[in-house]
Amino acid sequence: MNTLEPGDTLDSSSFLVSANGKFTLNFRKYDDALSLSYLVIKWNGSHNYAWVANPYTPVLYPFGVLTLDRNNTLKITQKDGDPVVLYSASETANSSVLATLLDSGNFVLEEVSSDGSVKRVLWQSFDYPGDVLLPGMKLGINHSNGHNWSLSSWFTEKSAMPGSFTLDWDPEGHELKIRRRGVVYWSSGIFRDGSFENIKQKRYTFSIVSNQNEDYFSYSVVDQNAKPQWLLTTIGRLYDFDGSLDIATADSCYGYNTDGGCQIWDQPTECRHFGDVFEQGNGYFNPTGPSGSNVKSTSDSNTSLSITDCKAACWENCDCHGFMFLFANQTGCRFWTGNLKFIADSAGYSSSVVYFLTKKSASSRSHKWIWIGVATGTALLVMVLCIVCCLLRRRNLSGGENKKKIDEKKLLPLRGSDISTDVHGIQNDGSMGHDLRAFSYESVMTATDYLSLQNKLGEGGFGPVYKGKLSSGREVAVKRLSSCSGQGEVQFKNELILISELQHTNLVQLFGFCIHGEERMLIYEYMPNKDLDYILFDSTRSMLLDWKKRFNIIEGIAQGLLYLHKYSRLKVIHRDLKASNILLDENMNPKISDFGTARSFMLNEVEASTGRIVGTHGYMSPEYAMQGIFSGKSDVFSFGVLMLEIISGRKNNRFHSAHRALNLVGYAWELWQEGAGLELMDTTLGDSCVENQFLRCTHVGLLCVEEDAELRPTMSDAISMLTNESLPLPIPIRPVCFPVRHSAGVDIRGNKSEIISANGLSSTLVIGR
Ligand SMILES: *[C@@H]1O[C@H](CO)[C@@H](O)[C@H](O)[C@H]1NC(C)=O
Ligand SMILES: *[C@@H]1O[C@H](CO)[C@@H](O)[C@H](O)[C@H]1NC(C)=O
Ligand SMILES: *[C@@H]1O[C@H](CO)[C@@H](O)[C@H](O)[C@H]1NC(C)=O
Repeated sequence: MNTLEPGDTLDSSSFLVSANGKFTLNFRKYDDALSLSYLVIKWNGSHNYAWVANPYTPVLYPFGVLTLDRNNTLKITQKDGDPVVLYSASETANSSVLATLLDSGNFVLEEVSSDGSVKRVLWQSFDYPGDVLLPGMKLGINHSNGHNWSLSSWFTEKSAMPGSFTLDWDPEGHELKIRRRGVVYWSSGIFRDGSFENIKQKRYTFSIVSNQNEDYFSYSVVDQNAKPQWLLTTIGRLYDFDGSLDIATADSCYGYNTDGGCQIWDQPTECRHFGDVFEQGNGYFNPTGPSGSNVKSTSDSNTSLSITDCKAACWENCDCHGFMFLFANQTGCRFWTGNLKFIADSAGYSSSVVYFLTKKSASSRSHKWIWIGVATGTALLVMVLCIVCCLLRRRNLSGGENKKKIDEKKLLPLRGSDISTDVHGIQNDGSMGHDLRAFSYESVMTATDYLSLQNKLGEGGFGPVYKGKLSSGREVAVKRLSSCSGQGEVQFKNELILISELQHTNLVQLFGFCIHGEERMLIYEYMPNKDLDYILFDSTRSMLLDWKKRFNIIEGIAQGLLYLHKYSRLKVIHRDLKASNILLDENMNPKISDFGTARSFMLNEVEASTGRIVGTHGYMSPEYAMQGIFSGKSDVFSFGVLMLEIISGRKNNRFHSAHRALNLVGYAWELWQEGAGLELMDTTLGDSCVENQFLRCTHVGLLCVEEDAELRPTMSDAISMLTNESLPLPIPIRPVCFPVRHSAGVDIRGNKSEIISANGLSSTLVIGR
């Protein structure tokens, strides 16, 4: 189907396909955490969105509906909120109207006469380009109505709102221009003899039309099978998604250089010189001057700022050495100023990408050093490839190209009817992945000696766990889900689907499952040292955990969570992180378990606001406990609590102090405030404790439990904070679970830039956030 007639609708499960099968139009979920969707046109087989209908107003998935109503209004309606009107008729047409997705990728609303011929075009998507220019689309101006066709980059990689860069056609100068908030960064050079000076790619045929009605630029390619799409990226690069060809790299224009079409800015920044560039890397900043020098990290929490705004601001501030975005959605800025040096972290612990100022080597100009030029070229090529890969990945992730339903046949033994709703939207290549096995009931019964009491390891939240030995000799843990509850079924499916996709040394490994009548069992790797709860809070057993082991456990949990949040395909929030869900192997390496309540960001989150609040008292973040809002930051909160428990050997919600009615978090905060952080230490740690590390754990723990989720570090931040002794840390704010006792409390929020001295940490400087 490629056409909508008046009265037709297109909901989230249907799509239009152009007659030649090349383009589709449908709703696509692009934001995994929020379940938001855009109505998009996409070139089949490409990961990229060629056009977005509702860049300002994403609609909750799957509630978006495209409607062509009987008044010839073309609009997107949603569950709550106003419709997004694409076209509304000013007069009632007396002939019929059709909305058609054409072979060119243009979605047009046309008035057609009874014989089917087109009378006029009422509206077309090609008139409202986003960040992509397809062959046949125009850049320029319609003089009759003043309408301007230009490209706008996305605001961030996650938001299709127009961002800082535009690409437009300058009819007077006969050139294409890329501007950042009005400032010309790049120009194609004048169009002459069919080509542009600064566009080196040869595959395009350009056409320039100039008459009294309109002035425009467009392009085409000869190859019928090519899928050219010029994409203007958020950082100002113009490249062809098809074949990954760079057309313009305005991201490397600094106002002082003219290479590749870069333009000189009118007002250069005095303190920046030829060769100064920003590079991108994993790492951190180290003070280079004497201690107490002007080293600072500041932030701008204006969420209208995107990464290129941060870059421009840092460029203009002569003290600024680097920046990154502040919020997870790539808005806001964090800057580093003062005498700093960027230290690359090749171990990859600090996974947040930082941009730092450096000097481009000029040596490639010298003949002697031509090989360096070659090397740089190769490196650039690799970088470009990386960027392209990243972009492919982001488009891939957001495009949902690979999102297929889990092969339902494999789950048929489950009650098939409701599973499809649960697993819908999971990104999966169609297989259950990895080596997941269906165990026969007999084999499980034999392995566990018919679920004998001797083999019972304990009772988890969703049923008992048994030890078993497979015929191969391998030891396993069998979790038997309580069959009486309907919830058991949901947990079973959830855990099965999630954990079968997750593979990390710090996550417990699922070997398989067993379904037999009403029975649902999950078969895991066996953990000889049970769980952290069992070992840590027992006065004798806790001696098995010296400081080194504890720090290793903290790091392991952090790496496991980082993987869940960031690197796993599913992007999972655990939601019930606690000591008893951290299993320990024979070497006391931690493995996160119990995914029964975990949520994949990819799963349909519609009920997130109304859904049950699951989790464990004492580990739940305030926003989750009170409003049911969960995000990666809720896990960070639980991680903070867990870390404080691990270093103190005390349970948060079973904590009583002789003279203070506080929980562990409050107690830790108070000690830290008083500069007595070391008093928190578990006495069984004795001499094994490394005081610096201990204080750093306390400090990071307190940051993780901050009331405002936004202020909590991400897991990758937390890891770099824990492992880089030199990374300056922000001052934690009084945690919410801490009952206010003295009214003379200092307003910590007000004192954002003071030196931490009270707590015995070295001369780390603190950062206002
Ligand atoms: C330019 O605007 C006029 C007036 O609205 C319209 O009739 C014409 O079709 C437009 N031209 C193009 C190429 O869109
Ligand atoms: C946030 O940034 C935008 C874009 O630079 C600017 O227009 C706006 O005034 C800023 N808002 C605040 C509150 O500073
Ligand atoms: C980004 O996140 C901030 C803080 O959570 C929020 O205020 C802002 O609206 C978000 N912006 C976008 C474009 O999603």
